[in-house]
Order: sequence, then C-alpha cells, then structure tokens
Amino acid sequence: AAGADFVVVANRLPVDRDTSGDEPTWRTSPGGLVTGVAPVMRSREGAWIGWAGIADEEFEPFDLDSMHLVPVRLSSEEVVRYYEGFSNATLWPLFHDVIVPPEFHRTWWEAYQRVNERFARTAAQTAAAGATVWVHDYQLLLVPEMLRALRPDVSIGFFNHIPFPPWEIFSQLPWRREILAGALGADLIGFQRPADAANFRRAARIDRGWSTAGMDIRVPADPERGTAAHVSRAAAFPISIDAEELDAYSHDPQIIERAAQIRRDLGDPAVVILGVDRMDYTKGIRHRLKAYGELLDSGALSTDDVTLVQIATPSRERLDQYQQIRTEVELAVGRINGEHSGLGKQAVHYFHHSFPRAEMTAFYLAADVMLVTALRDGMNLVAKEYVACRTGDDGALVLSEFAGAADQLTQALMVNPHDIAGLKRAIRRAVEMPKAAQHRRMQAMRRRLAKENVQAWSQAFLDELEELDEDKGGQA
Ligand code: G6P
Repeated sequence: AAGADFVVVANRLPVDRDTSGDEPTWRTSPGGLVTGVAPVMRSREGAWIGWAGIADEEFEPFDLDSMHLVPVRLSSEEVVRYYEGFSNATLWPLFHDVIVPPEFHRTWWEAYQRVNERFARTAAQTAAAGATVWVHDYQLLLVPEMLRALRPDVSIGFFNHIPFPPWEIFSQLPWRREILAGALGADLIGFQRPADAANFRRAARIDRGWSTAGMDIRVPADPERGTAAHVSRAAAFPISIDAEELDAYSHDPQIIERAAQIRRDLGDPAVVILGVDRMDYTKGIRHRLKAYGELLDSGALSTDDVTLVQIATPSRERLDQYQQIRTEVELAVGRINGEHSGLGKQAVHYFHHSFPRAEMTAFYLAADVMLVTALRDGMNLVAKEYVACRTGDDGALVLSEFAGAADQLTQALMVNPHDIAGLKRAIRRAVEMPKAAQHRRMQAMRRRLAKENVQAWSQAFLDELEELDEDKGGQA
C-alpha cells in the first residue's frame, strides 16, 4: 500500500523470519517494543517498516494479521555494525547507565547512518501526503531528521523505548550532536519517564545551545540538511500493555488449567517465584539469584516451600557481553541447584528459550511472587503483564525502582537491586505477604492498568502529535 496514512518505522518487524524448521515461517519478535506497538498497529491498519531479523534476505511487502509489513534488508555486515555494533554495543549500554562499557567505532557509526538513511527513504516512499509517521527506538534515532528533509509534509513522531541517560553519560558519545539533531527532526519525541525527557531536553540545551520552553525545544533551520526551523516537543508517555487481551487470556479455562498443571509439575510448592526477562545484563538476573541463593543458604527460605522459575529468553547472542551474562547466570543457577535442590525439590527451574504467549500467561497465573530487578529499564512490560494477569487480585510484585514501570506500579515492593540485603528483605516480605495486603496492592495496580493500557498510551501520543500538527498548520 504505497500511500499509507499511518506508518510505523522500527528496527524489527513485529515478526521474524524463522528458518530453523523444515519450512520457513514468521514468528513474533522479542521485546517490549513489539509487545507494545503491535496491538496499536492492528487497530490502525497502517504500514510497518522494519527488518525481518535475518541478514541478506530480501522480502516483498506483505500483509499479516491485519498489518501491512514492509521489510527492509540488512546485509550481514550491517547486522554486525549497525545492529549488533552501534545499536547494541554502543547506544544500548550507553543509554542504560553504562552497566557495561559502551564501545565507540567509526565504522559502526558509518553503518548506522547508512541504515537509518535506508529506513528514512523507505518511510518517505510508503507515507501518503500528510501522513503520520511514528519512528521507534534507539536503532533509528537519525530517521526523524532524514525523513523531515525528504518529506516536510508528514507529521513525525519518535518514541524512545529505553532510558535516555543524563548528559554526564550521554556526552561520551562522539556523535552526540548528530544523534540529538536526528531525533529532534520529530515534532514529538516520547520517553518512558519524565526524567528521560528532562535529560533529553537538557542535552539539547547544553550541546546544541537550543532554547527550551516547558517541554518544547526550538530547532533552527539547517540549510545543509535541508530542514526548516521548527519546534520539537519532548515529553513522557509511559508505554503499557494490552490489558484486555491479557485479561481474556487469563480467563481462558485451558490456560487456567495449564497454570494448575505447571504448579503440579513444579512439585506443588507453597510458593512459586517467577522471573521473566530477555537474557540481558540490564535485567539484574545475577542480583536476583544472589539474593535468592543467600536466602536459601541462611535457611530463611527452603526448597521445602519455595521454588524459583527463571525464564530468560535468548537475546543478541553473538555479542560478548550477552554470552558473558548467560555464562554468569548459568553458573549461579548451577551452584544454587547443586547446593539446595533435592529430588522433586528444585531450587531454580531455569529456561533459556522463549514461550508462546498462552504459556507465558499460564506462568504468570501460576506465580505467587514476581521478581523484576532490572538495574536500568525503560519500562519493563513484564511487571505490567504480571499484574494484568492476576485476575484473582493476589500475588506480590517485587519491582526495581530503576524500571520505568515503578512510576505506575507504586504499590509494588520497591527495591534497589544493588542493595542485596534490601532485595532479600523484599523477597521475604513478598513470600510472606498476607492475602489481605496482596489484594490491596494488586487491586490498586490492576485498576490503574485497566485505564492506563497500551491503547491509552498510543492515543495520548498520537493525539498530542496531531495537535502539534494543527498548530503548525495554523502558523503557516
Ligand atoms: C528492547 C528494545 C527493542 C528491541 C527489543 C528486543 O525491548 O527496546 O527495540 O527490539 O529489546 O531486542 P532485539 O535486539 O532482539 O530487537
């Protein structure tokens, strides 16, 4: 559909090409971006531009699941330099508080620009006159400015799904000026937390000397890049989950029975503790295991009563830092199980693979305690999914204050995951929490998520974008 009125641009399509079986198929892509944006997309019947998750393959645009998908090709060299390199070994660690050191390579930067240019051109070809184009995440920070130069008629939104770091960290980036100018090509720039938006505006002020007023940044014309002067707004729009869909799943008798079966298969422990993450060093899985292991060591918890299910979905597996975190997690799991498991009483049930949505819901339903201990996380939709699935209003959520979700899920047991003693106290409190307290906290969080769902998120963002567009029209 050349001429779409609504276009989403993201590094990944909502589906990946899966060539592991006999017949290649499409399967849902990992991560919070796709979880959040796919339901919005299905209801708006726009076009989604993205990579199919496999190098060197060219696909024609196609329709799937009420979405028009426009694949962008990446060469294997671009996968190494643009995706694994600049996106995930430069920007990802830089934007997540340098938990691991970011690497700066000029060849990666060169590939990042080239690929962003390709996405911008594809968007320019796909969008109808006056269309709304919504660009997503750190892989495509240059696209808004490039697109504005190609198509001054379209209305451009950008959403940053991950944190935006303080200037003191961001300023390490050798290409910080270009990255800022790139994102500022958008009319509206969304962030997960007010602090992320404030960090961004401050960076624009300090680095570019551009003036801000409230949420707005005055961007001057750039004749070299071919963009006119405009105002760009940077504000917080916390993403959320499809509460209705998860509610339907959690009421499905088959899934409820599956949850009961999971508990039986785990040996009917009194308390099931759950962790669900991509295998990523930002998620604090090691910290969680350390706290849990020490609680077993001291006898504060016993495998007579509790078990931990840790699901860690494979992610970015060719990168050193990801191989390293996997090794560390697996070593810790092995140690804990070696010391504390008995026959039919396993301390940690660990899975390094992904599960279909229905099975994930069954795990959420089966878990009495959910541990989200990210060291830094844009939002963390897993925390919200757990709450949305607790139809019985019970269960306890331990939540890192460094995840964006902490702004909305204020009745969770908040932790600083670096504080192992505090984390241990929170886990004990969650395990021992009386039903009445569980209900009070869970009900409050569920009520909030029923309103602040993913539809409300996209509506708020797109409404504001439209308003800005009307103002712009009025001025012209
Ligand atoms: C996070 C990012 C997404 C990314 C996802 C999965 O949620 O915000 O942009 O798509 O992780 O990571 P991957 O590298 O597999 O796309």
